[in-house]
Parts: sequence; C-alpha cells; structure tokens
Amino acid sequence: MKKTLIYAHRGASKLAPENTMAAYQLASESGADGIEIDVQLTKDRVPVLIHDENVRRTTNGTGFVQEYTLNHIKKLDAGSWFSTKYSDCSIVTLEEFLCWFQPKDMVLNVELKTNVIEYRDIEQLVYDALVRHHLLSRTVISSFNLNSVKKIHDIDAGVQTAFLTSTKRQNLAKFARENGASSLHIKHRLLDKKLLHQCHRNNMPVRVYTINRPSYMQKCYKLGCDGIFTDVPHEAVEYRTRFQEENQ
Ligand code: G3P
Ligand code: CA
Repeated sequence: MKKTLIYAHRGASKLAPENTMAAYQLASESGADGIEIDVQLTKDRVPVLIHDENVRRTTNGTGFVQEYTLNHIKKLDAGSWFSTKYSDCSIVTLEEFLCWFQPKDMVLNVELKTNVIEYRDIEQLVYDALVRHHLLSRTVISSFNLNSVKKIHDIDAGVQTAFLTSTKRQNLAKFARENGASSLHIKHRLLDKKLLHQCHRNNMPVRVYTINRPSYMQKCYKLGCDGIFTDVPHEAVEYRTRFQEENQ
C-alpha cells in the first residue's frame, strides 16, 4: 500500500504561529515527512515566508510585504497575534529557513505566492536558493499561478512542480502537464477516485490541502493520495500509523 506523505502546512500551524521557526521546529518534531512554506518578496527583493500579501493578519504591522525592506519587516512581531508566548517570533527569510532545513531528513514544498502579486523574478530567486542549498531533488515548487509554474519549468524542466487549484475542470491532469506541472495540489473537495486514477495513469502525484479532520485523512490514505498538507501533522502521523496497522 502506498504511503501518503504528510506535509506540515505552514509548519505545525495549529500549535504555533504559521510560517515561523517555532511552527517549523514543531513540524520537524511531529514525525511529518515534509514542510510546506509560502514565499513572498520584500521591497528589496528578499524572499520571505508569509502567507498573505499584507502583514496585517499575522504580525503587529500594517501594509504590504512588498512595501517593507528586509530590515524593516524583520522588526515585526510575527507571533503575538497567535499567543503572547510567541512574541519573540519574527518573519523568517527563505535563506534562514533553508539553512535550518537542509540537514533534516525531510521533503519540502515551496509555494510561490504569486496569485495576487506577480513578484518579478521570484521564480529565479527561489530556484537559485534551492540550488545553493542542494535541495532541488527533495523539493516541489507549487503555485496557483500557472505563469509561475511555467517559469520554473522553463528554468529547469527537471524540477518537481505542482499546479495548485481549487477549481474543477475537464482533464485536469492533462491541463496541468501541458502547463509545465509534474504534479497536482488540489483542495480536498476536488478529490475523487476518477481524478486520482487519471493523474496516476499519467505519472502525476496528487497532494491534497488542507486536511485537518481525521475522516479526510482516512479518505486520503485509503485512496492512495501521494501527500496531504495539514496544520496538525502530529495527528496525521498518528492516524496514518493506525491506518497502516489496520490495513497490513
Ligand atoms: O499548498 C497548499 C496550500 O497551502 C494552498 O493554500 O492558501 O493555504 O496557501 P494556502
Ligand atoms: Ca500555502
């Protein structure tokens, strides 16, 4: 039976503020196979890890990431919104994350957050950072924006890429492949046997977001999804162990 890989979504983001070192550290201790991170660019074009284009929701600042220099954005408190216990958390750069991640025995999903703002050259900057850290072979680069997927494919056709989508369409596997994606990252409501078989017949891994309920985890494990993204990786690992024991 295929083992569904568990990616900690923005780190262990139910337990610690998303996309901070605290959340990544907990993810690495949870037994998860991988970590998913979101990348945006500062004004001085430094890749930083934050989900929203605006810093308001997850920091004590206001305004857009692209209006902040690295020096300025680093001063923000990225943890107190979650709990005062995390008031020392700051926004993490891609570079800091990759230094920490490199020696870990884990896989990585870098999501390029280009669906609202098309940051110039973000694809090349992220690709170069992954090359510098020798992480390309265990990374999949994903985006909701097909231009970003295509750009990564054009930079290096050997890189694992994923088209992220929550929209149903005819022959999604073929569509994704034609646009330079080697895998598909879908919202859970799109998941069914037919799509999964269609993708697997085309050698296209399918990973599903965001899976926090045990019943959805079971469904993904049972159908043989290639990966899930979850805010509760420790629970997903526990349910997967139980599922494997029951289905040996
Ligand atoms: O990469 C899967 C998932 O993270 C995509 O949605 O909005 O959580 O970044 P979002
Ligand atoms: Ca994401």
